[in-house]
Amino acid sequence: MSSWLVTEKRSWPEWLALQVLKVGPIPKHLALIMDGNRRYAKLHEQETFHGHIAGFKTLTYVLAWCRDLGITEVTSYALSIENFKRSKEEVEGLLSLASNKFEEVLNEGENLAKHGVCIRIIGNLDLLPTYLRAQTAEVVLMTRNNTKCFLNLALAYTSRDEITAAVRECAIAISEGRLQETDITPRLLEQCLYTAQSCHPDLVIRTSGETRLSDFLLWQSQFSCLFFTKVLWPELSIWHVLGAVFHYQRHHHTVVAARKQAKLLYDRYELEADQACSLDDPECGCDGTKARKIRVERFIADLVERREKTYHALSTQLKEIKKQQQESCEQEQKSEASGRVRVIGECGERVVSVSVADPSLLKRVQQRMLLEAN
Ligand code: FPP
Ligand code: MG
Repeated sequence: MSSWLVTEKRSWPEWLALQVLKVGPIPKHLALIMDGNRRYAKLHEQETFHGHIAGFKTLTYVLAWCRDLGITEVTSYALSIENFKRSKEEVEGLLSLASNKFEEVLNEGENLAKHGVCIRIIGNLDLLPTYLRAQTAEVVLMTRNNTKCFLNLALAYTSRDEITAAVRECAIAISEGRLQETDITPRLLEQCLYTAQSCHPDLVIRTSGETRLSDFLLWQSQFSCLFFTKVLWPELSIWHVLGAVFHYQRHHHTVVAARKQAKLLYDRYELEADQACSLDDPECGCDGTKARKIRVERFIADLVERREKTYHALSTQLKEIKKQQQESCEQEQKSEASGRVRVIGECGERVVSVSVADPSLLKRVQQRMLLEAN
């Protein structure tokens, strides 16, 4: 069984480069567009699926390099909603790869806790098959208290879908009177995104020579430093990542300045939203600012609670599915263990059909009596 947590000994040039880079600013959050898996497979005369398997392996290495660099959050684009348009065979292959990898995560709980790895899933879970959806919920719940590093896997994700879902949440709340139109600000919308718990990515890397964001973290990458490299994702090495971090360091000051500027603008949005509220809110008998704060907090708390309930319901579903699988597996074993045995009783000797839970026992008896299984 492979692990999500690979450990590698650094060569001395790698170690030296890491130490030099660590003197400068290191991105807290790295976003990855893992592109070029199929081209890699073709280049190596392999099936497409092997390209994705190699791609997953590279992801585990990148996570190890990030740990060495001190990058504490990684978001990777594992499956776009657009990818569902690919051939049935490829989509099923990708989904089963994800499912196998999540099963490995579920068996690696202790190790992940030891290293403090928290895994979150961002995307439209409704688009995933039931079993995979339930597995993702279980993984999220299992690793949620780990706080050293964070891996956000984008599955069935596009920014358009994410932003649409966030706007829909706000629109419903307005229609139900839980929010007012003027409550909607960029900060509120941001809290409705799948990435509400994350900081914005500082650096985005895309491989394979494509220079597009392909609907990935469009809102969140407003001030991210972008790094495009020609290497195919499965061939990405630590040196490409170190190069990307160096690129980030060279542009760091402009990113910081732009973020400061944006903060002022977003503070102004909040102020305007506060001012738009009536000064005398009958609901709580206090000023409008406080009334808005309470409304917004309730709205967000409700959203978080609903998402939480979904995770728990899915986790229960996974347990039920696994129980059913176990039962049908046992049933299968039982039926495999049915056969004929010779019974010697008062009325003489007879051959009867029996069904026993332990197939090896049945075999031993049958071998002694020279009978065969059904
Ligand atoms: C893009 O390359 C890659 C993908 C669409 C899938 C990426 C998925 C993984 C690396 C595995 C993810 C693992 C988990 C656990 C979910 P491409 O297929 O577009 O290749 P191409 O650009 O050469 O055609
Ligand atoms: Mg591609």
